[in-house]
Amino acid sequence: MKAEEVKKIAMIGAGDMGHGIAASCLMGGYTVVLRDIEQKFVDKGVAGIIKSLEKFKEKGKITPDAFAHALVRLIPMVDLREAVKDADFVIEAVPEKLELKKSVFAEIDQYAPKHAILASNTSNISITDIASATQRPDKVIGYHFFNPAILMKLVEVIKGRGTSDEAVQVGYDIAKKIKKVPVIVKKDSPGFIYNRVNEPTLVLLSKILEAGHPSPEEFDAAFKPLMAMAPFELVDYVGIDVAAHGLEYFAQVLSPDYKPSEAMMSYLKINHLGKKTGRGFYDWSAGRPSIDLAKATKEYDINQLIALQVNEATKLLEEGVADDPKEIDLAMANGGGSPFGPFALAQGIGYPELLFKLGEIYKKFPLDIFKPTNTLKEGKIKL
Ligand SMILES: NC(=O)c1ccc[n+]([C@@H]2O[C@H](COP(=O)([O-])OP(=O)(O)OC[C@H]3O[C@@H](n4cnc5c(N)ncnc54)[C@H](O)[C@@H]3O)[C@@H](O)[C@H]2O)c1
Repeated sequence: MKAEEVKKIAMIGAGDMGHGIAASCLMGGYTVVLRDIEQKFVDKGVAGIIKSLEKFKEKGKITPDAFAHALVRLIPMVDLREAVKDADFVIEAVPEKLELKKSVFAEIDQYAPKHAILASNTSNISITDIASATQRPDKVIGYHFFNPAILMKLVEVIKGRGTSDEAVQVGYDIAKKIKKVPVIVKKDSPGFIYNRVNEPTLVLLSKILEAGHPSPEEFDAAFKPLMAMAPFELVDYVGIDVAAHGLEYFAQVLSPDYKPSEAMMSYLKINHLGKKTGRGFYDWSAGRPSIDLAKATKEYDINQLIALQVNEATKLLEEGVADDPKEIDLAMANGGGSPFGPFALAQGIGYPELLFKLGEIYKKFPLDIFKPTNTLKEGKIKL
């Protein structure tokens, strides 16, 4: 099948991600069936879509006509069989639990047309595992959007072990059509590209908490002038629980080095999860925390954080998860706040300096995952 033949998309799960992805697909001209397990969840998703599209209309990003047409193409429903029966492309965004995803995929596989491609918005779960629940592993892809899906550009299009190149291409072309920036992930590997490259920074934060110094505020004050959100503040914003569970997952599938420290887990025990509970590393009860720049630590600097990212990015090249540093940079620049990817930054800073900076981190926390790769040591990557 070619992307041009795709007319109808079924969105399974109408939550935070599902409604944003559905809204993007509607704006791209597709007919979208939105399915959730209860009418009230479907209604909430529809309300979210209308709100998002209204904002686009107010900002002049879509015309009132396009707004009205998009809503006509939205078909909300609860019945799964009906939802997928004539869909060409199905996107799943149900909660991040392997068994749930497998049972949802088995059901979709049973009712969707044979030609339909099935895509999962999982953040971490192996696409190959999800595909194993279907009779069409060649047509199952990972389709990783970022939050908020209506605004964020990056879509990682992931090839599972049995996925055909054709299915990956269809996913890629649809992402382009809905005005996203797709990046192909060539090997089904934990965290794909974006989350994997960021994970060592989280390990560093977890280790700093364990060491007891500098405090989150002292650390963040050193970075706040350089970033929209400083590292600990960002974890608070996303959720300390989300960060800790991500680390636990990486510890299981990649290396025990990722295991979150007791000090990090202690925040979960007292339900200080960050912004969503009003308290995490910071007090959010009166809005965004104020960080006192005068408290900035001198122990850590930005080139150390960049060194962690570049080193992890070189592992993706070595492992064949991606084969072009430009693609990794494209993913990193479109999934988060920084306009530059790690390899562009490395080119500016120089590999010897990054090697030295990584060594400083390793001296403080001698973990294998902080050791430089051969690619980093050679320092030959050019964009
Ligand atoms: N929230 C994020 O920042 C983010 C970013 C990228 C990827 N993801 C991934 O997207 C997926 C969804 O996350 P979310 O944040 O939208 O979760 P969410 O809890 O907001 O939404 C999940 C929705 O799925 C529905 N659901 C549960 N079982 C279902 C079923 N059998 N059929 C249809 N709908 C069902 C729930 O009722 C809920 O409305 C997860 O895999 C998550 O890891 C999340």
